[in-house]
Amino acid sequence: MRVTITVNDTEQRHEVEDRTLLVHFLRETCGLTGTNTGCDTTSCGACTVLLDGESVKSCTVLAAQADGHDVTTIEGLSTDERLHPVQRAFQECHGLQCGFCTPGMVLASVSLLQENPSPTEREVRDGLEGNLCRCTGYQNIVDSVLTASREETAR
Ligand code: FES
Ligand code: FES
Repeated sequence: MRVTITVNDTEQRHEVEDRTLLVHFLRETCGLTGTNTGCDTTSCGACTVLLDGESVKSCTVLAAQADGHDVTTIEGLSTDERLHPVQRAFQECHGLQCGFCTPGMVLASVSLLQENPSPTEREVRDGLEGNLCRCTGYQNIVDSVLTASREETAR
């Protein structure tokens, strides 16, 4: 089948198999390898992207389901070579170590802050519970999200 998906503001028209997962479409068809695959079974959140502004695990969405919709990946988050405030906060607060979970963690955090611009620590932990990190122990990730939230609300 043919799908047209706007990825990071660029229209991507491609022929795909009906069973193609969105994560494979992004990585293999569009060449956007910033979206990682960890478990392929909806458990780890490494593949999180924004679909029409809402975070989704792209290993659980078919490319066909994203047909006609907007997708944002980590490659599309910064503008004019400036990091997105959430990316900057992850950098400043050391919210990453190996970086494998980071694209998904950042996009899940962007979505969380869109829904709740001033979350408590508990709300951040609950909001990110679908995203796993094997390195950081989560504290610096939570600090990153809270820092991004404070910087955004101080504007
Ligand atoms: S690869 Fe999608 S949730 Fe783990
Ligand atoms: S920084 Fe390594 S898995 Fe999260």
